[in-house]
Amino acid sequence: MSSVSFTLNDGTIVPGIGFGTGTALFGKDCAGQVKQAIDAGFVHLDGAQAYNNEESLSEGIKLSGKPRSELFIVTKLRPGALAEHVKPAFDASLKKLGVDFVDLFLVHCPIAMKAGDPQPDLPEVWHEVEAIHAQGLAKSIGVSNFRIPHLQAILPTAKVIPSVNQLEIHPYVWKTVEPIVKFGVENGNITAASYGGLTPIVRAAGGPLDPVLATVAERLTKEFGKPVSTGQVLSKWVLQKKIILVTTSSKEERLREYLQTAELPDLTEAEIAEIDTVGAKLHKRVFMKHVFDDTDPQ
Ligand SMILES: NC(=O)c1ccc[n+]([C@@H]2O[C@H](COP(=O)([O-])OP(=O)(O)OC[C@H]3O[C@@H](n4cnc5c(N)ncnc54)[C@H](OP(=O)(O)O)[C@@H]3O)[C@@H](O)[C@H]2O)c1
Repeated sequence: MSSVSFTLNDGTIVPGIGFGTGTALFGKDCAGQVKQAIDAGFVHLDGAQAYNNEESLSEGIKLSGKPRSELFIVTKLRPGALAEHVKPAFDASLKKLGVDFVDLFLVHCPIAMKAGDPQPDLPEVWHEVEAIHAQGLAKSIGVSNFRIPHLQAILPTAKVIPSVNQLEIHPYVWKTVEPIVKFGVENGNITAASYGGLTPIVRAAGGPLDPVLATVAERLTKEFGKPVSTGQVLSKWVLQKKIILVTTSSKEERLREYLQTAELPDLTEAEIAEIDTVGAKLHKRVFMKHVFDDTDPQ
């Protein structure tokens, strides 16, 4: 179990570092990798209908032998689903995952994936998600990739305020995403979760943050007495902003490194401020570009 956790607005405690079965594992059998992640200490598993691998996520859980009660299982409504699709799609997920309930069910995306496809009616979709919550089939419910207008569309009629908004969060989008995170906190204590958090080193290496991350990693290495990587600096930056970290790796050693992040000494306020400032010099969004018009990102 990662030794960092967050308490959601419904009182649920979420293990703060999650293992995802999307991106690198999208559409792939993830059983072996899920088992490896659980063996390494992950208990928070981030799946989605769109990843098309919920059966193998279930298989990985079985292979690990970890009791259901010790796991935090997340799935997400397939992007583009309309209100009438929510319950049948959710039931199919439960079946594929081989569980009676999920710990967190997220609306993956607020709009249709392609221009011309029917747009989901967000308040109606959310009411269907609330009905699943009311039946105890999803212990917590939330959203993903919701900008401020999408949150504003559901909040006035919501009986349950979303617990989580999972977003692409790293220093190269922080300037545009911070207002969404702040809006969530101020409008019902919605906890942000980060995906794509390693983008500055994995997908945008050579950017202005490289020397800053290297300097902080060196300072932490001295203080911790063991090597601290630039990836861990980024993960620590996410966690210190009280944001859940969702990541992934095919490598056992890196999985352990991710979990160890929680034990590292904190970044100083000055280091966080420098990462924010230098990160704002480059804008690099990788995912869900059809949702985020970065000229008007909030
Ligand atoms: N809600 C959404 O719309 C959405 C969108 C995207 C992702 N997600 C979720 O978030 C999860 C994580 O997404 P992500 O892949 O974007 O996470 P990430 O934490 O930004 O990146 C993880 C990837 O970085 C690689 N990596 C880590 N350290 C590295 C290093 N030092 N050098 C080179 N490569 C390195 C890992 O590869 P190795 O295997 O080599 O370690 C892994 O594939 C997904 O699985 C999914 O569950 C959600």
